[in-house]
Amino acid sequence: MIAEDQHRPVLLAEAVEALNVQESGVYMDGTFGRGGHAAAIMERLGPAGRLWLLDRDPEAIDAAEQRFAGDGRARVRHASFGDAVDVLRKDGVHALDGVLLDLGMSSPQLDDADRGFSFRHDGPLDMRMDTSAGETAREWLARVAEKDLVRVLRIYGEERFAKRIARALVKAREAGDLPGTTGELAALVAAAVPYPDRHKHPATRTFQAIRIALNGELDALQRFLDSVIDLLAPGGRLVVISFHSLEDRMVKRFIRGAGEQRDLPPEIPVVPEGLRARLRPIGRAVRAGNEEARANPRARSAVMRVAERLS
Ligand SMILES: C[S@@+](CC[C@H](N)C(=O)[O-])C[C@H]1O[C@@H](n2cnc3c(N)ncnc32)[C@H](O)[C@@H]1O
Repeated sequence: MIAEDQHRPVLLAEAVEALNVQESGVYMDGTFGRGGHAAAIMERLGPAGRLWLLDRDPEAIDAAEQRFAGDGRARVRHASFGDAVDVLRKDGVHALDGVLLDLGMSSPQLDDADRGFSFRHDGPLDMRMDTSAGETAREWLARVAEKDLVRVLRIYGEERFAKRIARALVKAREAGDLPGTTGELAALVAAAVPYPDRHKHPATRTFQAIRIALNGELDALQRFLDSVIDLLAPGGRLVVISFHSLEDRMVKRFIRGAGEQRDLPPEIPVVPEGLRARLRPIGRAVRAGNEEARANPRARSAVMRVAERLS
């Protein structure tokens, strides 16, 4: 049984295997959550191994500090994985043997009504992953231009009724009736959607879109991808688990792009450093098996991609 404050890690054995953990290696888990993956990595590390644990969420960081208090192999840092290079360089780390990202939300974030991530629990419209900074979803909705909201709903939520939902929100705002809770936002969206999807709550896509925009999730992932190759030692592994197609597409394109040697004129016999392939994809995209998908609904949309830094 998973306790209330727990998170059931997705593709646990597969991810740790893909990291190819060496006893004395140096690793980073950029999305600690509640440490399911981190604990499994720790089990494989010897006394000289090191694991950097990052999360944007102060509650996840508290959990990490408690869980690994007194374990000299762990380094807990409250930071976005988008800033991993700066965090690690500041700590004197220049080459990692493996990096794991398990993107998206943890169960404690989704289940806590006060965090405002889920329309299944009525709570304040917050939706910040880092509760110590930035504006809440309500503050953002109070100022966002209608056309920008349409774009966010379309691109990050792939919502076909983006225009209608944005109109309804702006109308409510003009009438001094801006939703203040997750339940009010869900009701507004449900009323604005003419043909609800049979398998999804009508507000699912809107909540996803606002959360991604508010937390700059794709920007953080892009910043991470732009710098991760420099973070990895030759032979170091990159393992990313995504939960929606926007993220997975970014990871897939990145691995493909870094795995290709750039074209050269035939008269250049030796490939210059900057044009060589820098990553080698390891296997194909990995998805959860039937058993895991049955036991853990979150696992159904998970896609894991793995690559290795070339020397
Ligand atoms: C799916 S959970 C990770 C679960 C974890 N692997 C486990 O086994 O418990 C995702 C976590 O990533 C964190 N997160 C999301 N975006 C982040 C970012 N840009 N930087 C750091 N942490 C982030 C969230 O706060 C959340 O705790």
